Amino acid sequence: MKLFVDTADLAEIETIAGWGVLAGVTTNPSLLAKVEGDADDIYRRVCELVDGPVSAEVVAETRADMVEEGRRLAAIHDNIVVKLPMSAEGLAATSILATDDIRVNMTLCFTAPQALLASASGAAFVSPFIGRFDDIGQNGVECLRDIVEAMETSIYDTEVLAASIRTPVHVTEAARMGADIATIPPKVFYQMLQHPLTDAGTATFTQDFETRRAKAKA
Ligand code: E4P
Repeated sequence: MKLFVDTADLAEIETIAGWGVLAGVTTNPSLLAKVEGDADDIYRRVCELVDGPVSAEVVAETRADMVEEGRRLAAIHDNIVVKLPMSAEGLAATSILATDDIRVNMTLCFTAPQALLASASGAAFVSPFIGRFDDIGQNGVECLRDIVEAMETSIYDTEVLAASIRTPVHVTEAARMGADIATIPPKVFYQMLQHPLTDAGTATFTQDFETRRAKAKA
């Protein structure tokens, strides 16, 4: 499973890209609202930091406006993927952009039928949200599983991009069920990195190395 980071924070993207683990980036208007600067400049800089798909979301509401905004965003950089919301207008705009070879990430997908529609319209990525299901007391992992299973027999090349990830367990479950990609907030990347036994083991190895070196000098 490929790992994307879910943020518009350039410093966080640069740090995690430096680990050599990132295959792409997703943003959304709420994430952009948390950072300073011109949105197009941010997208450009993100594309320079990560050589992979970078989702930039449209805020237009009609298919014509979505297509216009999507074409403008796609022109910023070859890595840009246009993010469109799941809706009739979003599907129509996706099919138009797909004929222009502009990749679309259909976001806010919560059910398998929605994902199948997104795929059939020509979306390159479909983004099921896990955490927002958990937020309303439902099982987000099981909802993602429905979508991954339904998409397995798809005749289209749409990749399932597990989104709204809240914990490392969400990431593991997405990988186990065969999601193509997980987009992960920086906080969860740091949680994935850590384990107390790793810290304890590293400390012991360092201490034993120093003890041996001290003995050799004596
Ligand atoms: C996906 O691309 C979205 O940006 C994101 O995963 C939404 O997550 P949230 O539910 O934590 O806002």
